Amino acid sequence: MSARIDGFSKLTKEEKINWITATHFKDAPQAAQQLRSYWNSSPKVQTQHDEFIENTLSNFYLPLGVAPNFLINNSLFTLPMVIEESSVVAAAGNAAKFWLDKGGFEAKVIDTLKVGQVHFHYKGDPSILKTFFEKNKIAMLEATKSLTLNMEKRGGGIVSLDLIDKTDDLEHYYQLYVRFRTADAMGANFINSCLECLADALQNLSQQDVSFKAQDSKIEIIMSILSNYVPECLVQAKVSCPLDTIPTHEGMSGAAFAKKIVQAIDIANCESYRAVTHNKGIMNGVDALILATGNDFRAIEAGVHAYASRSGKYTSLSHASIKEGQFTMELSLPLAIGTVGGLTKLHPMVNWCMELLGYPSSKKLMEIIAVAGLAQNFAALRSLVTSGIQKGHMKMHLFNILNQLEATDIQKEAALTHFKTHTISVKAVGDFLTTNQS
Ligand code: MEV
Repeated sequence: MSARIDGFSKLTKEEKINWITATHFKDAPQAAQQLRSYWNSSPKVQTQHDEFIENTLSNFYLPLGVAPNFLINNSLFTLPMVIEESSVVAAAGNAAKFWLDKGGFEAKVIDTLKVGQVHFHYKGDPSILKTFFEKNKIAMLEATKSLTLNMEKRGGGIVSLDLIDKTDDLEHYYQLYVRFRTADAMGANFINSCLECLADALQNLSQQDVSFKAQDSKIEIIMSILSNYVPECLVQAKVSCPLDTIPTHEGMSGAAFAKKIVQAIDIANCESYRAVTHNKGIMNGVDALILATGNDFRAIEAGVHAYASRSGKYTSLSHASIKEGQFTMELSLPLAIGTVGGLTKLHPMVNWCMELLGYPSSKKLMEIIAVAGLAQNFAALRSLVTSGIQKGHMKMHLFNILNQLEATDIQKEAALTHFKTHTISVKAVGDFLTTNQS
């Protein structure tokens, strides 16, 4: 059967499943059944999920775990984490426990400014454009009033509007550079609507302007879109404790352990190959919270890694120091997130996670997410500079290997005991199961 189809999106869900399974699968009924087995038992909830995107056939599960004991700015939180990587939730829980009796995590939002741009071409005299912009700036902002009124009531709105000459980078290229605050919303729709409105106003006002007519040059709008680079939507998380409160780690004194963590972060700061993996560990915590709270992990990832490269070189997002007997680790992250709108009310599990967190404001959620990133970074480095990453990782991965090799419950129990004292690998587990058949 041909894999080409026209009008697929117009088929019913059942027709889509029939076509896709008949076209691409050896056992079509089994493939269709697999999709159905992941439908929610409540037709209402399933319809909600179906309507998030186009051509939904089923759901795709990721585990939701929780990491308790996070003391953040003196309040205790249990963090919801959506992630498939076996050791991440356990690592978060361990890091939370480590810092719990050392004052916990401190976090603070530096600012919440977001950016959008109207990109346009203009071939005329730059001074005419500049004069026109200054003369019409208020009128352009006025044009957005119906969009910004509600946001202003919630403490947000357009914060600044500037004309930027980018012709040194690209011939005829200018932009309107707009900064926004969006209160508790991520604000993508609000920002993009404002930008499109500003673009229309720019175009219309320039068409009526005599100086533009006189020089026979017009503004050509290319596109209007928010930027996911948000270095002014920044949050900082920090942990700190006296060296003498750090316990011995695998024969290493607390002070020696802290020094190794500082050394490890120094390496990530000067070496991009290491920095990428180091930051990936931070994002293990960040993304798990971003997903659990229905935020946009692609936007966060893009923005965070651009921020890690802001000096022109990709470096570590976290920093550590030992000063006057005090060990400190900190992390700054650009996080444009929301706690209202988007999936927050529509996705029942997102709503559940929000309730678990006490329905935080977007600023509070920024703090919680940054802490999750810092905790994950600490946990990863703690393993790396002591026992190595594989010990904890493979311990958590043991269940995956046992399931993959279709171990029975009795075999699983025996394997858990056996591998407390033996090195875990797929081969070692396979050999174990062969000699322990029951
Ligand atoms: C694995 O998901 C994350 C780590 O590689 C992070 C790191 O190396 O710092 C352990």
